Amino acid sequence: SNEEIKNLVDQEIGLIDPRIYSDQDLYEIELERVFARSWLLLGHEGHIPKAGDYITTYMAEDPVIVVRQKDGSIKVFLNQCRHRGMRIERSDFGNAKSFTCTYHGWAYDTAGNLVNVPFEKEAFCDKKEGDCGFDKADWGPLQARVDTYKGLIFANWDEEAPDLLTYLSDATPYMDVMLDRTEAGTEVISGMQKTVIPCNWKFAAEQFCSDMYHAGTMSHLAGVLSSLPPDVDLSQVKLPSTGNQFRAKWGGHGTGWFNDDFALLQAIMGPKVVDYWTKGPAAERAQSRLGQKLPADRMVAQHMTIFPTCSFLPGINTVRTWHPRGPHEVEVWSFIVVDADAPEEIKEEYRRKNIFTFNQGGTYEQDDGENWVEVQRGLRGHKARSQPLCAQMGAGVPNKNNPEFPGKTSYVYSEEAARGMYHHWARMMSEPSWETLRP
Ligand code: FES
Repeated sequence: SNEEIKNLVDQEIGLIDPRIYSDQDLYEIELERVFARSWLLLGHEGHIPKAGDYITTYMAEDPVIVVRQKDGSIKVFLNQCRHRGMRIERSDFGNAKSFTCTYHGWAYDTAGNLVNVPFEKEAFCDKKEGDCGFDKADWGPLQARVDTYKGLIFANWDEEAPDLLTYLSDATPYMDVMLDRTEAGTEVISGMQKTVIPCNWKFAAEQFCSDMYHAGTMSHLAGVLSSLPPDVDLSQVKLPSTGNQFRAKWGGHGTGWFNDDFALLQAIMGPKVVDYWTKGPAAERAQSRLGQKLPADRMVAQHMTIFPTCSFLPGINTVRTWHPRGPHEVEVWSFIVVDADAPEEIKEEYRRKNIFTFNQGGTYEQDDGENWVEVQRGLRGHKARSQPLCAQMGAGVPNKNNPEFPGKTSYVYSEEAARGMYHHWARMMSEPSWETLRP
């Protein structure tokens, strides 16, 4: 029942029923109530700059085509031929004047209108003149709502859902730390990187939403220590201990960061990127744009999730969608953004450093994936699935809100944002109407 689903998460106490990560029936409900009603990240405008440019991707398990129109707008439609269900377009990306199904040759224009059916007259309309029961206008693929936020392309199947800006709630100032540093905006500096991790999508989304704890304690220590110059006295290396976390007032979005301590970013991205991010004219310009909203120059190694599956790391600048593939698997589709007017040397450094760190073969990506896979493997066990998991960090402790930052903030080592994410997940899973769900 909806009540039972809602009770899988107790956000007040901070308890999570592990079946939310492993149960096939819950996953089917997720597809319908979470993924078919949320704004999902599909890519960057830079992936499709010209009319006819397209990428094929997914909205959860649903294949879609994202295509630039002649008027500069973007359309997103189901990549499913209305004839017998074949994919309309099979390549990953390209430029097209139309899309022709490879099964029987139905052709669609880039707006998703069915424009040609082989032997249409003979096979579908061989009736009296003017009495054909088949109308191509009835057989276009399902269209999604599309909107962008500062270069990122989102789509939503649900006509009743709030518009994108309302959906993003009070999280936008924190997105801007990466997306709005310059009036030139951001550009993509690589194609789409794709990999599969055998774990539930929520482990990944939650970590980027709420979990600085793993970075400041254990998971990435080997990567950090191995990145330090050889003359550093390891006994003097201190774990970062200052910073904050933000929980959106609605929508399950969250972010966290360290304050002023650039050692972690230095270890991940090296001195060139840290200098670009923190010193010089580009950093000053960024601060003058962002400083009205928040002290972005103090924020280090930020992580962020826009519910449910859009995650990114400002400063490192990897952006990804966690496409669910059943309760036990996720496809990670990631790309890198950088200030569009950054020097070429800096763009190249972002590309190189991401390959070494947050990429399929990257050290930090491996650290994260290893944790999620091990947790998922454990959940095969009957007893392991019956023990509630603890998300209590920061619940019931004195308020550590930092008034320098907008919205509801807490200490960096907290699970407040995770509780917000699961609270919103449980509401979406158990409240079928936007009448009760909308902000
Ligand atoms: Fe596409 Fe038949 S399935 S033309």
